[in-house]
Amino acid sequence: MIYSKIKGCGSYLPEKILTNSDLELTLDTTDEWITSRTGIKKRHIIAKDQLTSDLAFEAAKNAIKDANLQPNDIDLIIVATTTPDKVFPSTACILQKKLKIKECPAFDIQAVCSGFIYALSIADKFIKTNSAKNVLVVGADAMSRITDYSDRSNAILWGDGSGAVILSSSNKEGILSTHIHAQGEYEDLLHVTKKEQAGVFKETIDMRGNQVFKMAVNTLDMIVDETLSSNKLAKEDIDWVVPHQANIRILEATAKKLNMSMDKVIVTIDEQGNTSAASIPLALDYGIKEKKIKSGHLILMEAFGGGFTWGSALIRI
Ligand code: COA
Repeated sequence: MIYSKIKGCGSYLPEKILTNSDLELTLDTTDEWITSRTGIKKRHIIAKDQLTSDLAFEAAKNAIKDANLQPNDIDLIIVATTTPDKVFPSTACILQKKLKIKECPAFDIQAVCSGFIYALSIADKFIKTNSAKNVLVVGADAMSRITDYSDRSNAILWGDGSGAVILSSSNKEGILSTHIHAQGEYEDLLHVTKKEQAGVFKETIDMRGNQVFKMAVNTLDMIVDETLSSNKLAKEDIDWVVPHQANIRILEATAKKLNMSMDKVIVTIDEQGNTSAASIPLALDYGIKEKKIKSGHLILMEAFGGGFTWGSALIRI
């Protein structure tokens, strides 16, 4: 049996930090409100001269090094992003150029905050069908580029960053299953629209936060059940949850569903905010580097995002 095994991971956060106190200066909000409603204290913001592919490049370099591979060992690149450098070519192709990888298929996946799970799911199929041996899967987003910083209802949430994994073909257990879903009828609850700011039209995020919150909690409940039952596993079998970091209260609801203490949930939202497709690989890299997640552990990744899209991955590390 061929498995996709995580052979290495890496991440990158841009230098600039935007704290809740910084936001208090420009928005009708408080550190207390943001912390209690979201769990977020600060987020990283991409530099003016950086692009999403630059974020992806740093995380990818770290992951390739961690896997003890050379860039040209990579035979497929998938980048999950909502904030590509350009309409075309794909950020994956630009990343390929930056990594100086000579030739391999490279493409982007757009599933917003569920993007990394979608990308992982596709990469797993390539490996299981023997169509690739070493896949670079990146989640990278510059959400600050599409945030309306005059809209307190969601400007407080977003951050920028990137995370990457190398998935390699192995006969040892790795990805046990992935589950992806979408329901486009909810498009309007969380989407990017053109809004006027100081006479200029800009495409920025528009969200019905409360409705998204309720849908996210209920949907993640269902995906936990779906993942466990399709693997005939019990809640207690999970060592770590590595969730998309949207809101600490959503993470707490998932932990409750799993009868798990928050000690078994990787939390980075306080330091990073919601980095969309980057948040799961950032959390994974953090969990591994902090020696929380160890070889042999069973981890559950889950995400929910615009679309709506949602998904999960059950992985033996
Ligand atoms: N500071 C202070 N007050 C704020 C505020 C802010 N930054 N943003 C909203 N408020 C106010 C609202 O105006 C409202 O005031 P009112 O009662 O006088 O009308 C009140 O706080 C409650 O607003 P509501 O939207 O119901 O708050 P909430 O508890 O749902 O929290 C979110 C808002 C955005 C934090 C929360 O809904 C959320 O996290 N939703 C999910 C978002 C998400 O995960 N999105 C991405 C999916 S990947």
